[in-house]
Amino acid sequence: MPRLHVNVDHVATLRQARREPFPDPVLWALAAEKAGAEGITCHLRMDRRHIQDADVLALKRRIRTRLNFELSLDPEIVAFALRLAPDAVCIVPENRQEVTTEGGLDVLGSHARVFDAVTRLARKGCEVSLFIDPDEEQVEASAEVGAQFIELHTGRYAQSRGVSRTRELRRLERAAELAHTIGLRVNAGHGLDYENVGPIAALPHVEELNIGFSIVARSVFTGVEESVSTMARLVRGRNRVSARRAR
Ligand code: PXP
Repeated sequence: MPRLHVNVDHVATLRQARREPFPDPVLWALAAEKAGAEGITCHLRMDRRHIQDADVLALKRRIRTRLNFELSLDPEIVAFALRLAPDAVCIVPENRQEVTTEGGLDVLGSHARVFDAVTRLARKGCEVSLFIDPDEEQVEASAEVGAQFIELHTGRYAQSRGVSRTRELRRLERAAELAHTIGLRVNAGHGLDYENVGPIAALPHVEELNIGFSIVARSVFTGVEESVSTMARLVRGRNRVSARRAR
């Protein structure tokens, strides 16, 4: 049964739309923790389109669970992460034009840079994860560069339907099995919502799910307490049917 980590980036997206001090992603994170989030995730993008440096520092200071900091290999952001020394980091690819993180990190193609960042962040005591597509070569490369964890990108699974979804689920399952066999620990996330999370929560070896957009979006209607606690129940394998109706 995986743990639910809630990504608060899109609370900041709403705030940045008007450059107001509200809604505050830190207060929202504290409410999410009360509702059952077992960790808080945020992504400090190079373009600062949502989360700002001060948000990350305040999250580190104020949350009671664990902070998972998502970052690109940009040297300025890596230096920020080294100073922050959060509980966990997840290295993601980043491209200025994308709406969200579109694909997994090419660990194979940027072996030396990833190795360097993983080594420095691990020395700071952070758990280091690499956000990758469920490809065998990327899983193997992740072990070679010394990562402790991989986070499997579930975006293609979330976007597909019918047989393609079943195929994507099998790819994720095979990648999780391979990772486990070669000593990597496994997380997953991206595009997960109240309707599609069940099969991902049931995958073997998955320890943590990182979910943001669907939870923040639902909270606009139902509040943080309901949106987080309903997702937490789904991740734990309960209430599957009622949540599908409520989406
Ligand atoms: N995991 C990683 C590594 C991500 O980059 C994101 C998006 O910021 C997520 C999980 C969460 O994705 P979503 O907001 O679609 O739930």
